Amino acid sequence: MSEAGKMWGGRFQGELDPFFAQFQKSLTVDYALAFADLEVNRAWSSALSRASVLTPADVQAIHLAIDDLKAQWQQHGVPFDDPAEDVHSLVERELAVRCGDLAKRVHTGRSRNDQVATDLRLFLKELGAELLAALRSITTALVEKAERHFAAPIPGYTHLQRAQPITIGHWALAHAESLRRDRGRVQDALARLDSCPLGSGALAGTPVKVDRLALAKALGFASATHNSLDATASRDHCCELAFAAAMTMTNLSRLAEDCIIFASAEVRFGRFGDRVSTGSSLMPQKRNPDAMELVRGNTGLVHGALVALLSMLKGLPLAYNRDLQEDKAALLPALRRTIDCLRVAAIALNDFEFDTVRCAAEAERGYLNATDLADLLVAAGVSFRDAHELVGRAVNRAIEIGCELQALPPAEQKKLFPQLQIDLRQPLSAAAVLSRRDVLGGTAPQRVRDEVTRWQRELENWACNKETSR
Ligand code: ARG
Repeated sequence: MSEAGKMWGGRFQGELDPFFAQFQKSLTVDYALAFADLEVNRAWSSALSRASVLTPADVQAIHLAIDDLKAQWQQHGVPFDDPAEDVHSLVERELAVRCGDLAKRVHTGRSRNDQVATDLRLFLKELGAELLAALRSITTALVEKAERHFAAPIPGYTHLQRAQPITIGHWALAHAESLRRDRGRVQDALARLDSCPLGSGALAGTPVKVDRLALAKALGFASATHNSLDATASRDHCCELAFAAAMTMTNLSRLAEDCIIFASAEVRFGRFGDRVSTGSSLMPQKRNPDAMELVRGNTGLVHGALVALLSMLKGLPLAYNRDLQEDKAALLPALRRTIDCLRVAAIALNDFEFDTVRCAAEAERGYLNATDLADLLVAAGVSFRDAHELVGRAVNRAIEIGCELQALPPAEQKKLFPQLQIDLRQPLSAAAVLSRRDVLGGTAPQRVRDEVTRWQRELENWACNKETSR
């Protein structure tokens, strides 16, 4: 084999065009699969010995070479700027340095097509576990916020207009809900890719008598694939994980945006600490929420990876085509970004302090209790439509006078809605408005408290689940 570790020279007399040679290399991306590739080599050489292609002594020598290479790479890192074309040729060349021609025998009955398919799935199981752990850390941060502020009022919005008061805890758990669904999507994708392609050859299977189920088990897969064409050609598991990541980022960007709005000078519901804020090189007064902005800004990158993968597969004939090499360039950075964004969002959220005094004061302002006034009128016998009309006029009048609904003077109340002559201050307080939403999924503090307890139990399960399996 040449220095570049070329694996297919026999038929060719001429050299590759130097620019194309560089262009077609994938090592700078697929070096990430190096340790997976070593394990695949280990399992495959054992299988070859069981099939009497290699002797036990051969396999021992190969395994020693693998151990040595693994130790070296663990210590010094995998050389991603090596002349080798891809990670498979790099591994083969490095093994040959350690166990000579035996290294060349390991490729018996195997193709880089089933090899890369197996390496990638193995690696995705690892990355998937990291993704699940990162999802757990941001969800934990949200549940902690909810526990602390389960009863703390804050204005709730629709159309970014003040709507009704909610609790900060309810807001935090709303974001936790969407992240739970993201977790489920990642787990679904991981469960579906947990099947071993090794032994599928280039496309048609291998003539070597390997026990593919044993091979799958040795590599930690739940099962072995059942069609060699599909096993080497399919990448829908990559799309599924990319979608799970894209949806996660979309959800995370909404959390990021909420926090950025909360931290703005116009809203001032809270403040990011120094650990996650940056200043301006020009404007000395600035305090920018960069962490959450970067989270929001990375969302498009991850969406792009999903579109890249879907487009790459569209109309691609079976089985393997070189197009598939680009799967890793799209997917791996996108997953890495998603994991990093989840982590940074957790740090930023932990560093975000709500101004609960201001949030509570603002929850009493801006006619967030108008619906409740209408409901009180309904309780006094007015139809909801009429009550809606009456309260609409009352809001206009209160704006004119410059007061809140609960502070309308008795004489005004009498003119506006003679049906209800009571002191409105307590029944229209944010606390009263909140406690009326005492329904499953509602924002009443007691309900939020219960949800926090449920979440805490659930998160314990997230922790003990071996993250990749359900
Ligand atoms: N580097 C390739 C990939 O990532 C694997 C090699 C398969 N190459 C081939 N010419 N069949 O997809």
